[in-house]
Amino acid sequence: MNKILISPSILSADFACLERSVSQAEAGGADWIHLDVMDGRFVPNLTFGPIVVSAVKRLTKLPLDVHLMIVEPEKYIEQFRGAGADWITFHIEASNHPERLIRHIQSTGAKAGISLNPATSEDTIKYLLSAVDLVLLMTVNPGFGGQKFIPAVKDKISRLAEMRESAGAGFLIEVDGGVDPDNAGELAGLGVDVLAAGWSFFKNPDPAGGGEKNRKTIFV
Ligand code: DX5
Ligand code: ZN
Repeated sequence: MNKILISPSILSADFACLERSVSQAEAGGADWIHLDVMDGRFVPNLTFGPIVVSAVKRLTKLPLDVHLMIVEPEKYIEQFRGAGADWITFHIEASNHPERLIRHIQSTGAKAGISLNPATSEDTIKYLLSAVDLVLLMTVNPGFGGQKFIPAVKDKISRLAEMRESAGAGFLIEVDGGVDPDNAGELAGLGVDVLAAGWSFFKNPDPAGGGEKNRKTIFV
């Protein structure tokens, strides 16, 4: 099976102690740090912008996985890249010219990801498979941490993995929303490479009874 990466979402971390939260993620086996940027327009919630991304950059050497849930993402690529984003993922629903935006992100030196809401078909990215570095499938409706995983997305994950195989493409598949130790194994088996996990990573006080060090091992 493919090596699974875990990308804890700091949306569910304690923002009063960001340094401790990032250390907790590192100690728990994080491969990346997932940062959820929300603008109150694309999603009905507000979080943070490049200032917080740059603060996290100073706290860790792990790659920063920046998930933009914003309208007009093309306006902010330089700012997020300048703040230290290594992976920049925008929503297909928020972009009129996704291929141009992928190239734009890659021209800054970052890896480019596209995210699809649960109700958006994988067919919307069928002409982008060889251009994109990562496809993030939302497994909840974006906007909030701690929601329930939507099982219908599992078929979409399998279809996307098949599309990747037949196109001979090399993008990573990430899932985001309601990922927990109970569904992680099945998701990995469907072809997922990266698990973004907020609530189940940060709010679980002592996973598997083994303290901080066991956090990744309870997922994979
Ligand atoms: C939701 C965000 C997710 C969120 C996942 O809109 O994109 O990254 O933090 O949180 P959990 O794992 O709690 O569902
Ligand atoms: Zn996210």
